[in-house]
Amino acid sequence: MEKLVIEGGHPLVGEVVISGAKNAALPLMAATLLTPGRHCLRNVPDLRDTRTFIRLLEHLGVKSERVGDILYLDTTTLTSVEAPYDLVKTMRASVLVLGPLVARLGRAKVSLPGGCAIGARPIDFHIMGLERLGAICNLDGGYVDANSSGSLQGNVIYFDIPSVTGTENILMAATLATGETVLNNAAKEPEIGNLVDMLVGMGAKIEGRGTDTLTIHGVDELHPADCVVIPDRIEAGTYLIAIVATGGHGTVTHCRPDHLPSLLEKLRMAGVLVTETKDSITVEWPSADKTEMKLKGVDITTMPYPGYPTDLQAQFMALMTQCSDSCVVNETIFENRFMHVAELHRMGANIRIDGHSARVDGCGMGGLKGAPVMATDLRASSSLVIAGLAAAGRTEISRIYHLERGYENLVDKLTKLGAKVWKEDE
Ligand code: EPZ
Repeated sequence: MEKLVIEGGHPLVGEVVISGAKNAALPLMAATLLTPGRHCLRNVPDLRDTRTFIRLLEHLGVKSERVGDILYLDTTTLTSVEAPYDLVKTMRASVLVLGPLVARLGRAKVSLPGGCAIGARPIDFHIMGLERLGAICNLDGGYVDANSSGSLQGNVIYFDIPSVTGTENILMAATLATGETVLNNAAKEPEIGNLVDMLVGMGAKIEGRGTDTLTIHGVDELHPADCVVIPDRIEAGTYLIAIVATGGHGTVTHCRPDHLPSLLEKLRMAGVLVTETKDSITVEWPSADKTEMKLKGVDITTMPYPGYPTDLQAQFMALMTQCSDSCVVNETIFENRFMHVAELHRMGANIRIDGHSARVDGCGMGGLKGAPVMATDLRASSSLVIAGLAAAGRTEISRIYHLERGYENLVDKLTKLGAKVWKEDE
């Protein structure tokens, strides 16, 4: 296994190009299963998770070809309806093949994802939605076996929690159901909008884009897609936070500032100058004089979009260890998303967890000390990278396969910004 080695204390300066969004590309790839033909997805990031999803689609009979950031998927002939445990356990987004397979073939057998570091990650809303559309779902041997004799029937569905992949799964299934489906309390993340745009481009009839109520009028068939994956707002947020945490200044390009309303506001409240164009965001300090770089502690509470994103909670906490006072981080989405705290403690951070809240007493800019730490999940590992970049001395991060799930060309992009970072064998 490899580790990431960081020599901290160097301000990040310059421009970084943001890749396509992992959490948009995965549902778009799943949606190609809805209809036979050769689909074209553009701006697809080359990540561990997208490569895993391609393997899953090929297991189902899909032919794939990647040309640069364009992914061609030929879904003409599907030879299986089963998503096996060895694939699903490494990537819970595999559950997204459930809805499209039942809608197109009337059958799907998908391994239950099992838990992960950040929580139990149940899929009861996915199953409830399919059953409301008329499918019979049996849980057997760690698999959910869904059957719909004939086509799915439109219905009214209410999500207790605005589940992102739950909304995506049922939205995809409803496009081919007979009659009208209404999804109430649907998730509104930008990745849902990207999926709605793709499905409408394939001939689906969907109203309510961007709202928490989606109305889908079922159609008999769809045609192959040609669509573009939106920029990764979490990658963009991660680099913005890293630039600020190291006392640097820089611009993220090929991104969507309107997809990061809460983070940009929190950075401004912390004292950072944030400027936007339609596809870029620049962050800089009011003064280049390090002795005047004082970061204000700012509280965050993670919420469904457009609230503060849970996927940027760990990164913001790393930033707040650099503040000159203190703040509180509240995690309301997942039950165990403070795994980075123990590792930040090893770098000298002063953080106290109390249930779903963590109080951060800042140590000022450059106050952390590099140390060997361990990545536990995707976003926790990016938090450790930020802390290592900001800390004095050397940080070594083990189990970096977590990072490679969601950040394309991370070492190259950080090096281009002036970071001293490289991989070594553990
Ligand atoms: C998506 O996960 C993202 N993954 C996550 O990103 C993200 O953290 C999460 O949404 C919240 O924004 C992808 O899009 C592939 P949820 P998802 O269903 O859909 C509970 C990353 O780092 N729930 O919105 O699995 C659930 O336990 C990943 O890129 C149920 O109880 O999240 C959680 O508490 C991590 N039953 C809450 O709802 C269900 O059937 C929100 O989960 C489904 C969810």
